Amino acid sequence: MEIVILPDPEQVQKLAAKIVKAQVTQEPNLVLGCATGSTMEGFYAELLRHGAILDGVTTFNLDEYLGLDAYHPCSYAAFMQEHFFRHTAIPPQRRHLLDGKTDDVSRHCAAYEEQIRAVGGIDLQLLGIGRDGHIAFNEPGSSLASRTRLKILTPLTRESNARHFPPGWEVPKYVLTMGIGTILEAHRCLLLAFGESKAEAIAAAVEGPLSADCPASALQFHQRTTVIIDGAAAQKLRRAEYYRTVYENKPNWMRRELEGE
Ligand code: GLP
Repeated sequence: MEIVILPDPEQVQKLAAKIVKAQVTQEPNLVLGCATGSTMEGFYAELLRHGAILDGVTTFNLDEYLGLDAYHPCSYAAFMQEHFFRHTAIPPQRRHLLDGKTDDVSRHCAAYEEQIRAVGGIDLQLLGIGRDGHIAFNEPGSSLASRTRLKILTPLTRESNARHFPPGWEVPKYVLTMGIGTILEAHRCLLLAFGESKAEAIAAAVEGPLSADCPASALQFHQRTTVIIDGAAAQKLRRAEYYRTVYENKPNWMRRELEGE
């Protein structure tokens, strides 16, 4: 795992956008694993501002609320449309999202896995992190080998995500999500986080024991994960100073490898 600590959320989003743009420039047919949530809003805006040519890209989203269709304003499909897809020329047939209105969950999830396999896997997976350490909607206790499936949200996640729903609206209890095993097969992962509310989850993910209790800790097993966070999210890392030193002292060729330039 590579840990990059930057002064503020804007720089986190800027570096992530720079990495994605560089990779898309090198691989115009990149398969991009997309994430949602407030962490990602500024990232997509940055990526679009950087003028990345995205026409050849294929996308797969991590997760979706069960029961919400693509036109529901709180669905992740609507989020993607608003913050990303409508500003790009990615053809609809190459944008893959889990269908919150599926009437056959098992078959739909298996077909999603098959679609990922059919394009040769995900090249670059974007990730946020929940306050309880979840990635996508893999809540604590999720199997570290899990595949795309239905999950039930914890009260903490429903409470955290209530801010994305109008007052009085219920956050769905059931969701569809890529599994941790699915995510670990991506060739590269980029996890972004900022703010004090993520500090505990980041410390558990990066320095805690590898445990289903913090699903993001499974990334310790991934060959090429970069965690980009701000100082507030880094607050509980015991080795924060060391990670800063490593980043500042990177030889130029390693920096190019990280940033893709
Ligand atoms: C949701 C999503 C996750 C996301 C997390 C953090 O639960 N399913 O993929 O990482 O929220 O969201 P935010 O960036 O809004 O804090």
